[in-house]
Amino acid sequence: MQEFPVRDIDTRVSSRIVKSAVTPRPIGWVSTTSDDGVDNLAPFSCYNYISSDYPTVMFSSKVKDGGKPKDTARNVASSGEFVVNVVTEDLAERMDRTSAELPPEESEFDFAELDRAESTHVTPPRVADALISMECTAIESLDIHDRGVFFGEVETFHIADEVLEDGKVEMDHLDTVGRLGGPYYTSVNRMEMTREF
Ligand SMILES: Cc1cc2nc3c(=O)[nH]c(=O)nc-3n(C[C@H](O)[C@H](O)[C@H](O)COP(=O)(O)O)c2cc1C
Repeated sequence: MQEFPVRDIDTRVSSRIVKSAVTPRPIGWVSTTSDDGVDNLAPFSCYNYISSDYPTVMFSSKVKDGGKPKDTARNVASSGEFVVNVVTEDLAERMDRTSAELPPEESEFDFAELDRAESTHVTPPRVADALISMECTAIESLDIHDRGVFFGEVETFHIADEVLEDGKVEMDHLDTVGRLGGPYYTSVNRMEMTREF
């Protein structure tokens, strides 16, 4: 075993270690709309839920070199709304494409040839082919180091019939994709376990 005290290592090294250690990471595929009406879409793997009984999610967006926020962060800060779309295997390549750094007047929906579906509670559209989407209202944000952290309460879930059984999400029908360190993604390899507790 070797020890790597963070104060002694370069940020690039610590970044690589954290991104490999915190794996697999879920991917929040976040759609937002700018003040000018441009629909933005980008993946965020610093993402999770923080309450399930009161469905609340969070993601963090790195501040760009020069101190500017990414388009997603700017749009959430300004509109207070976002949609999180679930990434499944069939959408993985197009999700990756939406991480392109496009100018704010260009939409990643069009760039990655993704259809929009109208949301019901918020302005940003959903990814039409996503099997689950969550419309969210931003409730809080924090600035931590080089990140803007955004928290959103889920207003409504959209769930495709094909993943529902008796009104519940059937995990067998949802091939979610996660992020690993380096250039790697991961797909689900379900491991059933008899839960003891
Ligand atoms: C799978 C994946 C996960 C990502 N996760 C994050 C993240 O958690 N935070 C972040 O700031 N950027 C993340 N990125 C990079 C952003 O998606 C990328 O900077 C994108 O251009 C931001 O778009 P925007 O400027 O339209 O918001 C990720 C990229 C990929 C491909």
